[in-house]
Amino acid sequence: MTEVPTMTPTEQAPVAQHAPTLLYGEGDLRSAAIAGIRAPSMHNSQPWRFRLRDGAIEILADPDRQLAVADRSGWAIRVACGAATYNARLALAVRGRPAEVHLRPTSEVIARLTPGRERPPTYAEEALYAVIPRRHSNRSPFWPEPVPAELRMRLVQAALSEHAWLDLLVGVVALTGFAEIAGSADRVLRRDNEYQSELTGWTRTDDRADGVPARAGGPRPEPQDLLPQRDFGDRSRAPGRDYEPEPLVGILGVPTDRPIDQITAGQALQKLLLTATDSGLAASLISQPIEVPAARDQLRRSLNRTGFPQMALRLGYGMPGHPSPRRDVTEVLAP
Ligand SMILES: Cc1cc2nc3c(=O)[nH]c(=O)nc-3n(C[C@H](O)[C@H](O)[C@H](O)COP(=O)(O)O)c2cc1C
Repeated sequence: MTEVPTMTPTEQAPVAQHAPTLLYGEGDLRSAAIAGIRAPSMHNSQPWRFRLRDGAIEILADPDRQLAVADRSGWAIRVACGAATYNARLALAVRGRPAEVHLRPTSEVIARLTPGRERPPTYAEEALYAVIPRRHSNRSPFWPEPVPAELRMRLVQAALSEHAWLDLLVGVVALTGFAEIAGSADRVLRRDNEYQSELTGWTRTDDRADGVPARAGGPRPEPQDLLPQRDFGDRSRAPGRDYEPEPLVGILGVPTDRPIDQITAGQALQKLLLTATDSGLAASLISQPIEVPAARDQLRRSLNRTGFPQMALRLGYGMPGHPSPRRDVTEVLAP
């Protein structure tokens, strides 16, 4: 099993001992970035940078790491940077220096975090912060055990508290309807040679610090699978270890679909994933039906609500998976 680093606020740069200040400093930046880089990103492209500007911490999109084929619109980079922003917020909160968040999606700056009123962290902030290093995508089959109602409620609340919604699909009709939409989107993307070669380019068999290591991928897709799985390598599956027959699928969405809303969705996604991890749940992301416009429209119409789906997730109980590596924090600190 891969050794997972632990992260406590005191291990990071020390909190300033002097009186409350209205500015963030280098120690705050470093803590925010160490947490931020653990966020999910499409193909583990890690498209972010962090910097200190006039006492504020800024999360920047890194245009050199935007996926040229899979992310022409910038949706995936905004979701990933939104997720990194949420981690950075937690890191600042556990240092007793919670942030006020200003989203600025019109420029390279995704979010600007300014110091809010100092206060001790809440129990919930500490709990979610503590699981940041443990959260990872788990693409292996889960156990068939259902997720209890109180955990489902917790996940829904996590999304709502970050101005998003989470629809957990109930019943075979909703699940197979989603599977058809996701499957057809997956087929569209599999026929796209440029898309596939970009995906292959981010699949790793060496120990590079970005991209998806083959061991973090799920087993090779097989015809009996209900949900599409990206092919990050060539792992065969143990006999009898098929995917769970009735996966818990959630659709995360936001009321409108401007760039700023996609950053909001990224923050909500990260809160949701950390809440799932803290609840003992594993999760993997399924973005094919969001990436293909016709599929996304179909998905949107299939849900009994207004708003725009931004991510689909599979949730459940699983064996520990394989975290994907990250670049060193020094590589993402911008001057
Ligand atoms: C916008 C976005 C789309 C993603 N789409 C998928 C997907 O379709 N399939 C998948 O297995 N993982 C998907 N991921 C998860 C990333 O592959 C994953 O976060 C990355 O490889 C880092 O690994 P980790 O989540 O284990 O830290 C997506 C992540 C983001 C932010």
